[in-house]
Amino acid sequence: MKMDILLGLQWGDEGKGKVVDVLAPKYDVVARFQGGPNAGHTLEFDGIKHVLHQIPSGIFRQKLINIIGNGVVLDPVVLKKEIEGLDKFNIVFQENLFVSKKATIIIPTHKLLDAAYEKSKGDKKIGSTLKGIGPTYQDKIGRVALRVGDILSGDFRAKYDALVAKHKTTLSFYDFDISQLPELETTFFDAIEFFKKLNLIDSEYVVNEFLSSGKKVLAEGAQGSLLDVDFGSYPFVTSSSTMAAGACTGLGVAPSRIGEVYGIFKAYCTRVGSGPFPTELFDADGEAMRKEGNEFGSTTGRPRRCGWIDLPALRYSIMINGVTQLFMMKGDVLNIFEEIKICTHYELADGTRVDKLTYELNEQDVTPIYTTVKGWYTSLANATTFEEFPKELKDYVFFLEAELGVPIKMVSVGPDRKQTILR
Ligand code: GDP
Ligand code: IMO
Ligand code: MG
Repeated sequence: MKMDILLGLQWGDEGKGKVVDVLAPKYDVVARFQGGPNAGHTLEFDGIKHVLHQIPSGIFRQKLINIIGNGVVLDPVVLKKEIEGLDKFNIVFQENLFVSKKATIIIPTHKLLDAAYEKSKGDKKIGSTLKGIGPTYQDKIGRVALRVGDILSGDFRAKYDALVAKHKTTLSFYDFDISQLPELETTFFDAIEFFKKLNLIDSEYVVNEFLSSGKKVLAEGAQGSLLDVDFGSYPFVTSSSTMAAGACTGLGVAPSRIGEVYGIFKAYCTRVGSGPFPTELFDADGEAMRKEGNEFGSTTGRPRRCGWIDLPALRYSIMINGVTQLFMMKGDVLNIFEEIKICTHYELADGTRVDKLTYELNEQDVTPIYTTVKGWYTSLANATTFEEFPKELKDYVFFLEAELGVPIKMVSVGPDRKQTILR
């Protein structure tokens, strides 16, 4: 059996949580492979709206195994809160949530460092979620981080103290106030005790053995390809490999074992935090998109920047991920527009037209070149099949498919599980 991967093709918040929840009944295992509590994945069903940060989005489906893989940076405090928040759903965590012993632990000083680094950048700040992601991945790559398996060892406290001592030196260099640290540490060690009760596993063996025994595994991405540490709009990116290859390293699954790569995109674009966004709208259309799409961050509540769909960016994401199927999300949000714009190229300052996200492109302002199409300008609330969609929406889908060269197999027309049209 091969492992399928589902990931975001834009700047995150494409609707990954919703789609994982929709697809989950077809799978035995859902596994997160990177990121951490910077993610906010929203699920809606039976009148319930729930945001998950670190727990995979298969958790509401019975008999499904959810794995937090080695590539994740995990905050024990957030995990404890997430688990407690799910108590009312009678989920038996001992049976269906598993955590890799090789996942990296976010400690309180990582969050302080995140804040110190952002403050020092002034108006060049990344717009980090301040969950400690960057500093934790830095320590992982720097080979000094704490891993989940370490909490079981007798000298965890000593290892922790050694790392905190290093962090304190840096925090003092930045003259950063650490007076809240003792309080944060009390909560942290309380969460560590709770953590010991979870299933801590060598997830690379578990996932590969599942695949060998014919079980179906879905890898759930966090963030989006344009926030990838290598291929995103560096330095305005997150600190992990958000692309398909990240699922191999983040779960210990060989590239030869990858099956479908589902690429999720919004019918338009959004971005939270700083960094280039060629099609960003600063006018009434952008405001209308934000309002209609309820575009406010699931993790931080920040308003999301909004703009028209960007085809060069999508083509780039499809290329680096080897996307085999596209899912278009939030089609209903465009109901309000009589005309819809599609960015097909960028124009540089010297008038040259380009459609590639080269290194140089990241360094300059570009003007998006649009094709304008007629909107459907009607509610999609009653559509239950693709055939029932208004002609203009079908044409929008056909146009994108022709431009992107990959079939759009799903169109989402609302946040609920049921508002999902398969083709
Ligand atoms: P994720 O991080 O990719 O899982 O996405 P988020 O949960 O952060 O943001 C997506 C938001 O859009 C959530 O509030 C979802 O409930 C909502 N959503 C998902 N699909 C649709 C859709 O097709 N239409 C509308 N209107 N909302 C959607
Ligand atoms: P999901 O999984 C949208 C953005 C932050 C910031 C940059 C770096 O819900 O799609 P970080 O905290 O990682 O150091 O922030 O990345 N960012 C996200 N934007 N969705 C996310 O996750 C994000 N996770 C991080 O806003 O610009
Ligand atoms: Mg999100």
